[in-house]
Amino acid sequence: MTAPDSRDPLLEIADLVVEFATDGGLVRAVDGAGYTVAPGETLGVVGESGSGKSVTAMAALGLIRPPGRITSGRIVFDGADLRTASPRELRRLRGGRIAMIFQDPMTSFNPVLSIGAQVAEALRLHRPGLSRAGARERAAELLTLVGVPDARRRLRQYPHEFSGGMRQRALIAMAIANDPDLLIADEPTTALDVTVQAQVLDLIRLTRRETGAATVLITHDLGVVAELADRVVVMYAGRVVEHGPVAEIFGAPRHPYTRGLLASLPRLDDDAGALTPIPGTPPAPGEAVAGCPFAPRCALARERCRTERPGLAASGPRRASACHFHPELVQEGTDD
Ligand SMILES: Nc1ncnc2c1ncn2[C@@H]1O[C@H](COP(=O)(O)OP(=O)(O)OP(=O)(O)O)[C@@H](O)[C@H]1O
Ligand code: SF4
Ligand SMILES: [Mg+2]
Repeated sequence: MTAPDSRDPLLEIADLVVEFATDGGLVRAVDGAGYTVAPGETLGVVGESGSGKSVTAMAALGLIRPPGRITSGRIVFDGADLRTASPRELRRLRGGRIAMIFQDPMTSFNPVLSIGAQVAEALRLHRPGLSRAGARERAAELLTLVGVPDARRRLRQYPHEFSGGMRQRALIAMAIANDPDLLIADEPTTALDVTVQAQVLDLIRLTRRETGAATVLITHDLGVVAELADRVVVMYAGRVVEHGPVAEIFGAPRHPYTRGLLASLPRLDDDAGALTPIPGTPPAPGEAVAGCPFAPRCALARERCRTERPGLAASGPRRASACHFHPELVQEGTDD
């Protein structure tokens, strides 16, 4: 489904379907999405709110809970099928080989344990031979590394005594502690103010450097993707509509939705910061769509689009797009 890579993927998600049982009926949050992440690579995942970015990542972490359910698809991490992994194996992976950073770090910490205890626990999980004192020492080093001032004293503090930015730093310290192979960061900076955002992004760079971890970076900020990611996946209505190397996709988007997303960015050379949001809204969750889910909003939509669902098809050696007409969009000379 995704373009072949010379290296075996570290993570492969394919044809994933996730549904939630709600009062209003079954909501299909993810409708056949998939992507691969190569070792050490950074993959950006973008798309409007509700497109299934988080649910896809949660599925990869084994964190879909009732009323949610994975109804089909493949999730393979380093050759192991995670759909058949036991809850214990999944717990060991999470916070071990797979680290997570979420939007609200408060929910990632236990409120009744000190920050130091939690970072030390993460360390000891990874290296059971490490003494308590050694773990605390290393925890202080890690907090210092991520820029928590006066780290030794602050080890004794509880999550609520840390500001949002400091909690995010502590979470990143925990991620580095485990020397993960994969880091999943879901809107890691959204809840933070602008100056702290930049610092946290620097820390994600630091994490990659320290651990060599592959990174899945879910964000609304296309600028962040342009700066940090090697490849990008564009999601719409629970599916991947376009993916490929960042420079190629941002330089010459083939899918009308990707074009709309890029066109909706405020322009730096425009004082008014003119935003051109894509008119209309995605299909309502749970709504059955016969053809292309983007058709009601797509300026290029034709009859075929309303009846036939476009699949992902190669639009270059390492990229693909799910639009019936993307070959025409290439010929339009959009590559210039
Ligand atoms: N617990 C739940 N119960 C019912 N529906 C859910 C649940 N969690 C997610 N959904 C639905 O799944 C869809 C995808 O949600 P998801 O959180 O993955 O979107 P997202 O792309 O991460 O959006 P955002 O950018 O706002 O974070 C949404 O339509 C949402 O309503
Ligand atoms: S398949 Fe049709 S409606 Fe969908 S994005 Fe392409 S042109 Fe637009
Ligand atoms: Mg989300």
